[in-house]
Amino acid sequence: MAGQMPYLEFLGRLHEALRPATYLEVGVRAGDSLALSRSKSIGIDPDFAIKCPITCDVALFKTTSDEYFSRPDPLAPFHGAPADLAFIDGMHLFEFALRDFINVERCSSPSSVVVFDDIFPRKVDEAARDRHTRVWTGDVYKIVEVLRQYRPDLTLLLVDTGPTGLLLVTGLDPDNTVLTDHYDEIVEKYVVDDPQDVPPAILNREGALAPEKLLRSPVWGSLRRSRRPWVSRERARVEMTEALERPTIYRARRRELRRTATRTVKQGLRQVKALRSR
Ligand SMILES: C[S@@+](CC[C@H](N)C(=O)[O-])C[C@H]1O[C@@H](n2cnc3c(N)ncnc32)[C@H](O)[C@@H]1O
Repeated sequence: MAGQMPYLEFLGRLHEALRPATYLEVGVRAGDSLALSRSKSIGIDPDFAIKCPITCDVALFKTTSDEYFSRPDPLAPFHGAPADLAFIDGMHLFEFALRDFINVERCSSPSSVVVFDDIFPRKVDEAARDRHTRVWTGDVYKIVEVLRQYRPDLTLLLVDTGPTGLLLVTGLDPDNTVLTDHYDEIVEKYVVDDPQDVPPAILNREGALAPEKLLRSPVWGSLRRSRRPWVSRERARVEMTEALERPTIYRARRRELRRTATRTVKQGLRQVKALRSR
């Protein structure tokens, strides 16, 4: 199997590391990925047939993602709270994945993580828009190039999972309209007939991160802390970038912050004790 870790194992460990309060999934099928959630969840799929035990508090919607997101309040099951973690694994055609991302980002916050499945087809046949293989990625892989080009503000993490890779997107901006504004031009350029011209960089998984190493990154703690309402978008971005790019320095700074906080609390307690004993 291609990939250093099965995607479901990676997703399960991502849930543990990120501890999202809310989880949104597009494409549920039998519930294998939804079963990993311990958070308040939304599942959207026009044709799901759950076969796994689901232990989270979930609102399931038997409908397409386009229909679901056209509703006046798609975050109603979360009482308006954003989705801390989302998994886009519905219709494996580029324009559907793009629309899912546009809609999911509107339901996100700067500390959310959006995961795409199937960004690394192993051969051109798997990437066909007209499905004719058992494992089918379709042309979802094009989302990587489009996000790099139109949304350089986002952080993209390509992950070497099996069978067909994951893309994690962070640094989200629910108010950004660039993709909506350029939707027609993007679809015009990227939706083309089979066979798809899959770039060698995609087939060779260039730039894909080792899943084990990524899961051990301090970035998940930084994103958890950035959910606090007083943390600004800019602060969240600075913390996330340092945690990802300079993990040793980030960890040392966090340790120093904890030491200072402990010293301050102890000092305060000593002062209270001294006042009381007067
Ligand atoms: C690959 S399966 C999902 C697998 C699941 N996420 C897992 O990992 O166990 C894709 C699912 O997307 C659903 N789907 C297809 N078109 C969709 C759409 N327009 N909106 C939402 N879901 C869709 C299909 O019914 C199918 O169950």
